[in-house]
Amino acid sequence: MSDTLNNPEKTPEHIAIIMDGNGRWASERSLPRVAGHRQGVQALRRAVRAASDLGVKYLTIYSFSSENWSRPEAEIDHLFGLLRRFVSQDVAELHSSDIRIRIIGERSALKEDIVELIEYCEQLTSDNKGMTLVVAFNYGSRQELASAVQSIAERVARGELQPDEINTETIASHISTSDIPDPDLLIRTSGEQRLSNFLLWQCAYTEFVFVNEHWPDFNRDILVRAIETYANRDRRFGGLKAKAL
Ligand code: IPE
Ligand code: IPE
Ligand code: MG
Repeated sequence: MSDTLNNPEKTPEHIAIIMDGNGRWASERSLPRVAGHRQGVQALRRAVRAASDLGVKYLTIYSFSSENWSRPEAEIDHLFGLLRRFVSQDVAELHSSDIRIRIIGERSALKEDIVELIEYCEQLTSDNKGMTLVVAFNYGSRQELASAVQSIAERVARGELQPDEINTETIASHISTSDIPDPDLLIRTSGEQRLSNFLLWQCAYTEFVFVNEHWPDFNRDILVRAIETYANRDRRFGGLKAKAL
């Protein structure tokens, strides 16, 4: 555990990150947007190492949203190329660091080789006991909830479930994060303060920390600062402060 943390016992179990600002990082340097995405991969490596080192159990990263298909084709191709390269270059190291990889998001629209890579990573690392790295790829929270509703409706139609038996647990168990605790802390880089269709259900009581740095500049110090901000927050979950009781 890092001695830079004031409250190491308050390290969040699950951190979710919206890795934003690659394009702005690049344009501030008069570079093409893809240069920002390339540097973003380096930042991702730093983030994974630091989070695992700090004792975080789950790290969820938003790497491609359902809405990112509206970007120019060349940029999308580049992002997919980076994913392919990240997986092929880093999976062995992640595996040897005991990291378990999970990918969430819609797979049916993805090319077959990408789906095979995803399945390979998940299978290879499925028994690992270190940090779980959840990669949200072609992920959209509204789409995820719509398909959960569809599966629940099918169960009702088959007579396996009564409508009045549907509760929040039914929904939680039909979404892709059913076996993953909700994020304690969500970090978004680059100054934007929105969820952009990320983990809408799961973030009901998540603490949000927005940082101004662009994603390619992300490092361990920024992560530690965000964790310290989190550790000083008072999470009430609708109740009262502990000392008010
Ligand atoms: C985040 O950086 C990476 C992805 C969304 C894939 P952006 O590409 O959104 O960078 P900005 O927000 O345009 O600066
Ligand atoms: C969210 O960032 C998606 C990812 C980080 C993968 P965007 O850059 O796509 O979000 P908006 O468009 O600014 O809301
Ligand atoms: Mg962006």
